[in-house]
Amino acid sequence: AIFLIKKKIHFLYIFIFNQYFCVFVQYFRCLDMVAVDGQFTFTADRPQLSCAAFLLAEPDQVIEVEYDSVDIDCRGGDFITVFDGWVMKGEKFPSSQDHPLPLHERYVNYCSMGSLRTTVRSNQNVAMVFFRVHNAGSSFTLTLRKHVNPFPCNVMSQTPEGSYTMVIPQQHRNCSFSIVYPVAIDISEFSLGRFNNVPKVKSMPGCADSGDLVQLLGGNSLDTMKLVPITDVCVSFTGPTHMKVACDNTVVRMVSSGTFVNRVSFSYRMLDRHELQNIKLNNVEDFCFNN
Ligand SMILES: *[C@@H]1O[C@H](CO)[C@@H](O)[C@H](O)[C@H]1NC(C)=O
Repeated sequence: AIFLIKKKIHFLYIFIFNQYFCVFVQYFRCLDMVAVDGQFTFTADRPQLSCAAFLLAEPDQVIEVEYDSVDIDCRGGDFITVFDGWVMKGEKFPSSQDHPLPLHERYVNYCSMGSLRTTVRSNQNVAMVFFRVHNAGSSFTLTLRKHVNPFPCNVMSQTPEGSYTMVIPQQHRNCSFSIVYPVAIDISEFSLGRFNNVPKVKSMPGCADSGDLVQLLGGNSLDTMKLVPITDVCVSFTGPTHMKVACDNTVVRMVSSGTFVNRVSFSYRMLDRHELQNIKLNNVEDFCFNN
């Protein structure tokens, strides 16, 4: 399932690159991934019963979907539904555990929205639009906007390499940063508030009682809840911790009790073919647990 997302992100690179050089009308295809900005139109040339557009913005942005004009047959079973996150085969990002809304509130169907409301806003840098139309000629136009998110919590990486600092400012919540590539990752710093504890990295059993920790998770699911813990860090340290994770999805998840201002910094890059092969051959310390 994740393979599809990866392919699409690569397409998106090319798409964003092209956008600097040409101005054009933007259309949704039945299966699409788009960098959020501007107006998008879908027009059915035949019945399309199962369509989805993955929307992606920068890590510190949320996405707003506005309905401009809609010509579909709600009574006939057509729908346009915005999902707050990404979902594939029942696997969700952010996972139900980490999202502020209960699952049913993350789906907003245009056909049952009422006429007073015309926009839907996501809680993180990814969202999704599902749609089904039974009649050729049915169409709709949406405007996708990006808004600054001053306190990003859950984030889907736009790229296979980069660096990021996640901060949870004295809130009792958990945040995940997901990278849908096999990566080499360096956690350079984890700190609780202003305290500088003795540099020490504890292995998993020692972190079980800690209300504040960073988990490195890996696996082949989009859903953080289905991933396996690779290592936990629960005492402030100034790194680096270097790991290679040969999984489809690598997640840095921070658990926060609300007592401290938790902060974790990390950088990552995609593993090359040679590294992946080595990991598979001598499966000693670094591997994907979920194969
Ligand atoms: C955060 O995650 C921990 C462990 O995964 C869980 O026990 C706790 O209930 C979560 N907190 C919130 C606010 O969801």
